Amino acid sequence: MDSTEIFALSDSYIAPTYNRFPLALVRGEGVKVWDADGNQYLDFLAGIAVCNLGHCHPRVSAAISEQASRLMHVSNLYHIEPQAKLAEILCYNSFAEKVFFCNSGAEANEAAIKLARRYGDAVLGEGRTRIMTMRDSFHGRTMATLTATGQQKVKTGYQPLLEGFDYVPFNDIDAVRDAISDETCAVLVEPVQGEGGVILPAPDYLDRLRKLCDEHKILLILDEVQTGIGRTGKFFAYQHSNVAPDILTSAKALGNGFPIGAMLASDRVITHFGFGSHASTFGGNPLAAAAARATLETLLEEKIIEQVDEKGALIIAGLNKLKTEFPELIGTVRGLGLMIGMDLEIPVGEVVKACLEHRLLLGSAGSNTLRLTPPLVIEKTEIETMLKILSEVFSDARKP
Ligand SMILES: Cc1ncc(COP(=O)(O)O)c(C=O)c1O
Repeated sequence: MDSTEIFALSDSYIAPTYNRFPLALVRGEGVKVWDADGNQYLDFLAGIAVCNLGHCHPRVSAAISEQASRLMHVSNLYHIEPQAKLAEILCYNSFAEKVFFCNSGAEANEAAIKLARRYGDAVLGEGRTRIMTMRDSFHGRTMATLTATGQQKVKTGYQPLLEGFDYVPFNDIDAVRDAISDETCAVLVEPVQGEGGVILPAPDYLDRLRKLCDEHKILLILDEVQTGIGRTGKFFAYQHSNVAPDILTSAKALGNGFPIGAMLASDRVITHFGFGSHASTFGGNPLAAAAARATLETLLEEKIIEQVDEKGALIIAGLNKLKTEFPELIGTVRGLGLMIGMDLEIPVGEVVKACLEHRLLLGSAGSNTLRLTPPLVIEKTEIETMLKILSEVFSDARKP
């Protein structure tokens, strides 16, 4: 099928929840993707921070093929070797002592919300189940996670929402302190707000949040669905700080494109998730676990995360140079590792569209922020190409 035929078929049969660009991608390799008409694109979005090893990484594809012909799925009623091995890697590289597997970021956050409520009720006192989250946060689209999300746009039309959430501004410790009540059991926060516009907190924000949670004996839950798996230059973003959470959620890049989510926790907390308290048919099945294991082994063995800071700095320097050339079009440039945002003075949608016409894929976030989340394996020449295209796009935007 050519692109036009795919657009027509998709418009006929797919639910209209996405405002799609006129692009149908059919193949990918590393940082490049191709559309149905054979046009090549440079991918600086990576499926929104998913394909951290690039598209179709040979080690991940081989692991999937091998596992697909051995055993794709068995129930979590039985022990699953690839799942156990994956959990071991996650625990070895983080604070965690146990992992619960699921299929997406929203599901990982659902698990975290459920676990926090059980912990609150059992340890802190009956009914102590309120969870504090941040304004402009994003935690998913299920009923619990859209309620947890600090953005009105994902909630519209879905009332009644779930009970039990309080919202405070991001990066404001005093607001958290003031809002903790004798019903609070946990604080849920993204180490860097992704969908909210790539918003970085103060460097000591997590340390101070941890201290506050400890003082009140409540849980610190980190949503690392977007920031995890090397994206910010550490395996998990909390590792930039001096502290660790009680619960952490992961998904997106965990399977490099194969759907899988995970909730990581300490033994002290996970003990409140006993037999029958939570479950998922597909969560951590052999195929998903094999994909994720190959992803993590590749990232770690090939020391890919160690290169993230340098590549991120190169992009940020290039974007700041563009800002000096186009000061009336570009606002703040910021990022951590390869999670980068650039505020614009012109509509971000138009810039993303113009980049697409130049065969460059980029994203948007927040109210008007250009978002760059390239594969971590991005090369210097590809960064230069991206900057050249952006420069052309801004030059065109400047023309009367
Ligand atoms: C921080 C964060 N949490 C949760 C989610 C939801 O993940 P999923 O779309 O896999 O349900 C996202 C997705 O963008 C996210 O960025």
